[in-house]
Amino acid sequence: MAAKPDRLRLGVNIDHVATIRNARGGSHPDPVRAARVALAAGADVITAHLREDRRHIADRDLDALIQADIPLNLEMAATDEMLRIALAARPSSCCIVPERREERTTEGGLDVAENAKRLQTAVSSLKQAKISVSLFVEPDPRQIEAAHALRVEAVELHSGAYANAAEAGNPDDSNRLLAALRNAAGDAWRAGIEVHAGHGLSFDNVADVAAIPEVVELQIGHFLIGEALFDGLENVIRRMRKLMDAAR
Ligand code: PXP
Repeated sequence: MAAKPDRLRLGVNIDHVATIRNARGGSHPDPVRAARVALAAGADVITAHLREDRRHIADRDLDALIQADIPLNLEMAATDEMLRIALAARPSSCCIVPERREERTTEGGLDVAENAKRLQTAVSSLKQAKISVSLFVEPDPRQIEAAHALRVEAVELHSGAYANAAEAGNPDDSNRLLAALRNAAGDAWRAGIEVHAGHGLSFDNVADVAAIPEVVELQIGHFLIGEALFDGLENVIRRMRKLMDAAR
């Protein structure tokens, strides 16, 4: 079993840079520029979610990020279309998420056992193309077991429920949900699966998740892009990095 890592990686999701750009059309603000600023400020990887309805990141963004040699984690649903695009683009990693057209953001984790056949096809083709794969799952032992059966490199634990409970100031719920994240991280690590976590993380709640020793990578988007309006993207990422590092 690999040693537990000291340094946490930070993945910065730039979808909402494209959301702002799309509000007017045109090319400003440019997601590639945001990616470069994020990397210079301490991000390790850039995440972009190409959704079926292309509501934020567009195909041309994906091409531009790849052309610019950005270390890219492509979030995608396990559909034939996305698989074709990922195999052509060859990002460094793909995070497979469930996707419903009407949702505002990715609302829940994958039901890995229920969708094992479709996921297996996606995981195998991506792995064959040397693209590392993670599955976005709820911190639930059944999902970790099912992910293990698919032999994925990583799982990304959905931290959204914990983040919501922490924001609501509900200690019983937030402690229970944090314990679920800790347990799932331990289960995944013991099964030899790399552990990532993300959704809903902010300056206020990142420390508890960053302190889970098995977690190697945090994925953060909405808060960083929103807070960048007030303090600039570079400052905000530097501060998030500091909080993450201080929690280890
Ligand atoms: N991880 C996954 C799989 C996501 O879908 C998202 C949202 O795009 C994030 C992490 C980042 O969540 P947030 O935008 O709430 O930081």
